[in-house]
Amino acid sequence: MSSDSIKAYDLPERVRRYDADMDVMHPLRWKMIAVALEVLPFSRSTDLRILDLGIGTGVFAQQLLKEFPSAQVLGVDGSEAILEIATARLSRYSNRLRLEAHDFRKLPRGLLDESTLDLAVSSYALHHLNKDEKSDVVRQVVGALKTGGWFVNADIVIAESPCIENRFQDLRVKGIVARAEGDERFRDEPVTRQYLDDMEKKEQDQPQRLAVDLQIFREAGLDAEVFWREYREVVVGGPKRA
Ligand SMILES: C[S@@+](CC[C@H](N)C(=O)[O-])C[C@H]1O[C@@H](n2cnc3c(N)ncnc32)[C@H](O)[C@@H]1O
Repeated sequence: MSSDSIKAYDLPERVRRYDADMDVMHPLRWKMIAVALEVLPFSRSTDLRILDLGIGTGVFAQQLLKEFPSAQVLGVDGSEAILEIATARLSRYSNRLRLEAHDFRKLPRGLLDESTLDLAVSSYALHHLNKDEKSDVVRQVVGALKTGGWFVNADIVIAESPCIENRFQDLRVKGIVARAEGDERFRDEPVTRQYLDDMEKKEQDQPQRLAVDLQIFREAGLDAEVFWREYREVVVGGPKRA
């Protein structure tokens, strides 16, 4: 896999502490997954075909597999190391789960058949792509949804105004320092800021403005809306238009 955003997650040490780090850096991840689940209009007994794009350690997929006991989940991620963690986490669901290692930007032909998916989800993964790459993969995913099938994305965005973005970033850093008791990487605000800058560079973070993400989803064929937002974290998506 060639992408730097994949290499950054293909390190055993990074993925071993990934979930603990997410609780420090993105404690709202659980809330966002809960909102995504709540908004879905499917009956709990439907045998859904679901894609989790950038499944990571499998936290979102775990909730889906629990909530929809007849669903089948395909989890795609570029990092083999993180897929090992997902395999272990989701072992009790192995008969309803398929995990595949692919770069989002080069998904193999035939992985996503036209109009076969009921639901696609993604969390904290698509901001690793630039706008064009994100548009391409979203188009492929929406193409693979049945009409009326849903795509829900939980991710980060940047503010419209640099002044507000600076304020979001200040709040972000303060929150991390307050939550990260005893972790030297986050011992004060300047050290934390530097750590985040280095990490985002390594992982090729390139979040877009919310308006851009909505445009990408709508142009791909979704009736996309914002379901939830707190500062720089959002849950957006909706059903595929007829
Ligand atoms: C921040 S993690 C999010 C994981 C999980 N969805 C979550 O909510 O915790 C981003 C994930 O996207 C994957 N990723 C980043 N760029 C990718 C790419 N170009 N192709 C495939 N996977 C990619 C990484 O390997 C990583 O597992």
